[in-house]
Amino acid sequence: MLTCFQGSTNIVFQKILKFFVKEGSTILDITFGRGLSWKDLKENYKIMKVDKRKLFDDVIQADFNDYLNKKESNSIDCIYFDPPYYFKEKISNFNINDQMLNNEEEVFWTEQEFAEALTTLQTEVPRILKYKGIFIAKIMDGYIGKKYLPLAFELFDIMAKEMEPQGIFVCPIDKKDKIPGLIRINQIYYLVFKNLK
Ligand SMILES: C[S@@+](CC[C@H](N)C(=O)[O-])C[C@H]1O[C@@H](n2cnc3c(N)ncnc32)[C@H](O)[C@@H]1O
Repeated sequence: MLTCFQGSTNIVFQKILKFFVKEGSTILDITFGRGLSWKDLKENYKIMKVDKRKLFDDVIQADFNDYLNKKESNSIDCIYFDPPYYFKEKISNFNINDQMLNNEEEVFWTEQEFAEALTTLQTEVPRILKYKGIFIAKIMDGYIGKKYLPLAFELFDIMAKEMEPQGIFVCPIDKKDKIPGLIRINQIYYLVFKNLK
């Protein structure tokens, strides 16, 4: 299934979630951040919030790799992953004084962190999810200078070895901002997988 949605990301995410995950389910959000994905949620889900930053009292402050490594097997209905967007080492050449890029932890990670995340997700997500549990990853590809970084494809290829792909949902970005054109990201991908183990 390949579908294109336009709209603010909380609305797009919640539409996808509602389609695949029934109300009352337990959802583990391992990069909860400011919780913007959950804004105006109408459905009744039990959300477990994990992030390396503790911006709210009910957030479990942890590195998601450590958290997932220790989490009990077969215990969660849905895992949601919304990592930072740009590799810090790739973007250092650009002079960025933009409002959006002030929240360093939201925006930057490293190539090493991405590689570690892929290893953790591949092993731990199918283990932690219940049978027929759902994994949703929100991730972006983009250009930095002339280099294309196909992160969504890499994540898709890794997870498709372990879980059954359910859909790729593309959400074009039409927001006006001051981000330099050379680090343009054109769309967000929501990748959805089902656990059949
Ligand atoms: C793009 S933001 C997530 C935004 C969030 N979904 C929202 O709706 O506000 C990425 C988040 O990943 C978190 N993060 C980055 N590396 C992490 C790690 N190793 N463990 C846990 N959280 C991490 C950051 O602190 C940041 O909040």
